[in-house]
Amino acid sequence: MLSLAVLGSGKGSNFQSIFEAIEEGRLAARIVCVISDVPEAFILERARRAGLPAEFVDCGPWRTKVEGEAEQRLLERLRAHGADTIALAGFMRMLKRGLISAYPGRIVNIHPSLLPAFPGLRAWQQALEYGVRVTGCTVHFVDEGMDTGPIIVQRTVPVLDDDTPDTLHARIQEQEHIAYPEALDLLARGRLRIEGRRVRRV
Ligand code: GRF
Repeated sequence: MLSLAVLGSGKGSNFQSIFEAIEEGRLAARIVCVISDVPEAFILERARRAGLPAEFVDCGPWRTKVEGEAEQRLLERLRAHGADTIALAGFMRMLKRGLISAYPGRIVNIHPSLLPAFPGLRAWQQALEYGVRVTGCTVHFVDEGMDTGPIIVQRTVPVLDDDTPDTLHARIQEQEHIAYPEALDLLARGRLRIEGRRVRRV
């Protein structure tokens, strides 16, 4: 059973899918806290409505990373809530070594493309502009790179001729909401072994 901290900066639809999977018995976890670096993020509101501890943590002056004092602050809050696993769900900052080494093999992220294609921001728009016919989503372990860690689960989404960035992102999110609880449940059940770049299911 995971003691899960969910970190997000935005609307929190992935948090919602994780929460529902737990409620429905599809994911062996409990959510110990939901943390955001954005005080007004809707993910915090969703967490409160679900009756979960929801907390804004000041993650420091750099909008794209958590470093130094802010990293220590975040670590302290994660420990205070008893988190043993961290799920990044639309958290818009990169984690640095201090946090990553405190949770080895226990931090996962979801990204809206088939990595290693289209890392970084607005991956669905990058895919559309590039002209790929298939994209999707990836759940992966977090390392110090940007969207580079070992891959756990991927799900594909076809790109349609009349797709706009919004329609494509919406269909990718439908698949995210399946992929993320599934990947976390594999982790919860001890079914994942990281071997170099590859994640083997045992
Ligand atoms: C998702 O598309 C996820 O892949 C990306 O950020 C978005 C978060 O969406 N990392 P939400 O806040 O979970 O709705």
